[in-house]
Amino acid sequence: MIPYGRHFIDEGDIAEVVKTLHSGWITQGPKPEEFEQALASYCGASYAVVFSSGTAALHGAYFAAGLQRGDEFITPAMTFIATANAGVYLGADPVFADIESDTGNIDAASAASLITKKTRLIAAVDYAGHPFNGKPLYETAVKNGLVLVEDACHALGASHMADDGSWKRTGSCQYSHMTVFSFHPVKSITTGEGGAVVTNDKDFYDRLRLFGSHGIAKHAANFQYPPDGPWYYEMQELGYNYRMTDFQAALGLSQLKKLPLFLERRRDIAAYYDNAFRGNRFFDIPVERDYAKSAWHLYPIRLKEQYKDSKRNIFLQLREKGIGVQCHYIPVTHHPFYRRRGEVHLPQTEDFYQRQISIPIFPALTYMDMEYVRQKIYDVFENMPDIDDYDDEYDYE
Ligand SMILES: Cc1ncc(COP(=O)(O)O)c(C=O)c1O
Repeated sequence: MIPYGRHFIDEGDIAEVVKTLHSGWITQGPKPEEFEQALASYCGASYAVVFSSGTAALHGAYFAAGLQRGDEFITPAMTFIATANAGVYLGADPVFADIESDTGNIDAASAASLITKKTRLIAAVDYAGHPFNGKPLYETAVKNGLVLVEDACHALGASHMADDGSWKRTGSCQYSHMTVFSFHPVKSITTGEGGAVVTNDKDFYDRLRLFGSHGIAKHAANFQYPPDGPWYYEMQELGYNYRMTDFQAALGLSQLKKLPLFLERRRDIAAYYDNAFRGNRFFDIPVERDYAKSAWHLYPIRLKEQYKDSKRNIFLQLREKGIGVQCHYIPVTHHPFYRRRGEVHLPQTEDFYQRQISIPIFPALTYMDMEYVRQKIYDVFENMPDIDDYDDEYDYE
């Protein structure tokens, strides 16, 4: 099966991890900070804090923003559940905004219409690696005194156009207060599990640092009470152990050097699919807006109206032919945990869900794989049986 996404690790990455394992530092050594500096510099941000996962990083960003019990935060439902869960961890209530029908990103007008006195934060997702339309939403957030957190777990390496026409990397935080990344294996680069928050704000940075390491302050300059002695440290907030290990950070540093190549490869694959599928009668291909350069984490096709009822059938047939298609995403609001919190009406999100299928895109995908995917997709669509004719033996495990 050709998966929809896959990490790429070479001997150079392995050598860096082994070197770190030999260094005597397993965790809390120099590598996480080195990785933070490299990441901040790559993104063009002042600060970065690494975490043990993208979910932990989102939790940290929402905490740093001051999100707490009784607050509301606005988020799309067309995302991985972690975007919403991280706010629920803090006792806050997610309020779900609808999305743009083509990019799958949060719709700025829908988000603006949901702001109440209780809203503290907006979380905008760069769906599939395509930057959200930052300017209008960021201006709305600032005007209303809200913190805008960009969930860029798909989008390390993406860019958006600044007012002066120059390209800014995702993570430069031009249109966000904090931007969050994931280094899960299918993402732009990997550390196994891992994540990070980048920001230009020193106060957010200090709170992120505290949160990821038990809420502990270690430096005398930050103490709230006089130290008892040289052993002294203070737990100032309820934090977590969300640290990244040294060998993970060593992998991250090594992977970051390869990111430009990874991105180029993803762009080439997207261009191949664009050429192969542009104008076909079965589905729409992903868009890349003029203001954006996508990181092409996913290649999400959207079935045309007359085929959306056949999604299940098409999905099963593609899997049967060895193409590891995936659906991104079941709307967060469909999961029982969120259903119990109340019904939500999101027409664009529902429509997107009925149409969307992700096809394989990752740096090591070969030309032959791409050819195979193209051929099988046309085979399946051009010979589509009636949905009722298909005998479903698919194992949902
Ligand atoms: C949009 C989005 N947000 C958050 C996460 C959570 O990241 P992680 O898996 O590193 O915890 C993911 C990862 O799947 C994601 O796709």
